[in-house]
Amino acid sequence: MLRTKENTVIYQIYPKSFQDSNGDGIGDLRGIINRLDYIQSLGVDMIWITPFFTSPMNDNGYDVADYRAINPLFGTMDDFDELVDQAKKRNLDIMLDMVFNHTSTEHKWFKKALTGDPEYMDYYIFKDKPTNWISKFGGNAWEYVEHLDKYYLHLFDVTQADLNWDNPKVRQELYDVLNFWIAKGVKGFRMDVINLISKPEIYEDDLVGDGRRFYTDGPNIHQYLQEMNDHTFGRHDDILTVGEMSSTNIEDCSLYSGEKSNELSMVFSFHHLKVDYRDGQKWELADFEPKKLFDLWRLWQTELSEKGGWNALFLNNHDQPRSVSRFGNKEYHQESASLLATATFLMQGTPFIYQGEELGIPNTEYDNLDRYKDVEAINYIKEHQSNLGNDECLKVLNERSRDNGRTPMPWNLEDNYGFSSTKPWLDFSLAEELIPASEQMNRPSILTYYQALIALRKANRAFQTGTIRFIDSDHEHLFNYIREDNNEHYLVLNNFSNNNYTYPLTTEIKKVLFSNQEVEYNKDVIEIKPYQAIVLQLI
Ligand code: GLC
Ligand code: CA
Repeated sequence: MLRTKENTVIYQIYPKSFQDSNGDGIGDLRGIINRLDYIQSLGVDMIWITPFFTSPMNDNGYDVADYRAINPLFGTMDDFDELVDQAKKRNLDIMLDMVFNHTSTEHKWFKKALTGDPEYMDYYIFKDKPTNWISKFGGNAWEYVEHLDKYYLHLFDVTQADLNWDNPKVRQELYDVLNFWIAKGVKGFRMDVINLISKPEIYEDDLVGDGRRFYTDGPNIHQYLQEMNDHTFGRHDDILTVGEMSSTNIEDCSLYSGEKSNELSMVFSFHHLKVDYRDGQKWELADFEPKKLFDLWRLWQTELSEKGGWNALFLNNHDQPRSVSRFGNKEYHQESASLLATATFLMQGTPFIYQGEELGIPNTEYDNLDRYKDVEAINYIKEHQSNLGNDECLKVLNERSRDNGRTPMPWNLEDNYGFSSTKPWLDFSLAEELIPASEQMNRPSILTYYQALIALRKANRAFQTGTIRFIDSDHEHLFNYIREDNNEHYLVLNNFSNNNYTYPLTTEIKKVLFSNQEVEYNKDVIEIKPYQAIVLQLI
């Protein structure tokens, strides 16, 4: 069966933390091969693997030094080819993560640029004067190169130099890279911060913000994406693509993922993952108010659908703290993890499950700042330790650091949870809710719930291609919607609180299809328990 954005479920792997096969404490491609049966048992179709290309690893592989070579830390090209093969045998496809907004400063193009070669300087963005733009990882976004007497732009780390997409040679180089991997049997691409690639014609200071308004969803973005599509994956009918869209808007996303625009299959947007940011600031903690999440979900579901676009459905990835710690309740760990999955993955869009969320892995709960490894966390400590003090820094990082999502997979009860024969590069979560995969198999658990939920979505077409309609509720903690097509009608009820609710039934129930807890109902009302998710088939 042809994979489509409607019928596909994608599993994301952060290779460094998935499975180590050679005892160096770092996950690798062979480790993924060894775990393919586990991935297949989830019922997913495609594996997105975050970058494992040659890289100095300043940003864990998002600083690529060679787009066509495997970082020896992760294995060899033979390992990769075997991975594609072995995955195919299990009816799994591979999605690669292409980082095309910038390269590592170790990339040969940048090294040539640094010699003053004008051809390669034009691959990047060198200017005589900097602007006041702020890097996404803190500090000014320009770096001075003394011997050239010029500044280069880096929207991320200083070792991640932004590419000049206005140069047709750069675009062609990147299209060639995509075609290289397509020829190897890759069936999906996740495009890193792809809506930042089109920079403005004029570089000026941002007097009201950090500069992002000049380069986010920039002037030629749609033209470049259409051209990329036309030269690469658009020539094949079996490739799925997803763009990571930073600080974007629904209008542009409807074009990025529109059926007719020939850009990408779908979009990751992030507004719904800022609901617990105070005033939009990542490092300012605020309580989670479910209503804010519901409103954003509803907005993006409804409007993107009306405008012909398509959402990627997700609450977790390698840049986010763990959703169960963020939006769930420690006292209802299993219930809240399964509730979050149900609410998210039965909406309209393509589900993305991030490694370990199917085990309910919680945040790190680290006890010491030294345990943090992410460049962003380290920059945060440098900047704030002296004024905030250790305890406050730790508190913030334990909630917000990207390392929360990067702790190694706990596979079993052996040493280092079976992840590695040695101490891993990053410590496991210290939280007591960390329950390894071996302890969750073949019994009621978050893992087996995920398996059943994926099967449910696959067995009922209305969850794939049906419409979605939201139901207003008197209770601000209930998130309810109906998925339907001509033949099937489903009501999905989600309780994001530890209250019990009595919910009036206005339509007749054909069947209780699914729930994370026992379901009590009569013909008039249904009881919804704390953190309960219920799927009903309606007449
Ligand atoms: C994306 C990646 C993130 C990386 C950044 C720069 O947001 O998901 O991990 O640091 O882009 O490439
Ligand atoms: Ca290894």
